[in-house]
Amino acid sequence: MIVVAQTKALRAQIKQWQRDGETIAFVPTMGNLHSGHLTLMQQAKQRGTKVVASIFVNPMQFTNQSDLANYPRTMEADQQKLIEQGVDMLFTPTPDIMYPKGLDAQTFVEVPAISDVFCGASRPGHFRGVATIVAKLFNLVTPDIACFGTKDYQQLRVIKLMVEDLSFDIDIVGVETVREASGLAKSSRNGYLTPAQLELAPLLYQTMQQVAKDIQAGEAIDVAVAKGSEVLNQSEFTTDYIHIQNANDLSDVTTDDQEFVMLAAAYLGDARLIDNLVFKR
Ligand code: PAJ
Repeated sequence: MIVVAQTKALRAQIKQWQRDGETIAFVPTMGNLHSGHLTLMQQAKQRGTKVVASIFVNPMQFTNQSDLANYPRTMEADQQKLIEQGVDMLFTPTPDIMYPKGLDAQTFVEVPAISDVFCGASRPGHFRGVATIVAKLFNLVTPDIACFGTKDYQQLRVIKLMVEDLSFDIDIVGVETVREASGLAKSSRNGYLTPAQLELAPLLYQTMQQVAKDIQAGEAIDVAVAKGSEVLNQSEFTTDYIHIQNANDLSDVTTDDQEFVMLAAAYLGDARLIDNLVFKR
């Protein structure tokens, strides 16, 4: 696996591959890789002839400085995992390389409306940081295909809209959430949980499944959601939100909608866990 930190070396290798007619599939990450990330690498491998991954803990998308400082950094172990997956090149820039002028003097990309709701409302500026870094990475890697997890449902929708609005010629692939046997979505943030909290954590997805069942059984959406929040809050969780939206564009549900997405975020100790569930009426 080729490992590069500098953009010049990255671009030179990409150009060579493009001259050779390779199809480039890209997976951006912030590292601390688990089997969810590795599934994205496998999907990329199936779709491209060269797989490029990136590891960059992007300061622009953090709204809390201690969250940024404490984000787990496990570069050596991550590299080993990527080699095992047959990743061809890893890009590991530093903040100085990605943001030489600093964060405040940097041009940014903002996808309107969708960036300000749900996770964006809880963390103002977060999706601007995500859209900006992903746009920069897309311009550097110029992939044919890029893979993202549906675990971060809103992020995936933000990126799809950005690609459409800014005419990036990149096929965005959404990959199903990888879960523990308990149903808990794999996440770097699970590492912040104590053993006792880890045992409790699957309650988030279990509660979401129950809320979906109640709605399918004819319960009013707001009643089912209030019941779900209550279940979480009566345990050690603090519910940030549970929303049920149109699965396509995250707009508010109308009586015509057939497919919904439930977006949930809840705090458990120091960790903010998110999950989502797509379901039909
Ligand atoms: P990160 O949290 O490292 O996630 C990298 C990719 O892995 C994202 O597309 C995310 O949705 C996916 N992923 C995480 N957990 C997953 C799981 N359990 N199953 C399937 N896929 C999963 O998301 C980011 O980094 C950043 O915001 C980034 C897009 C890299 C921009 O900085």
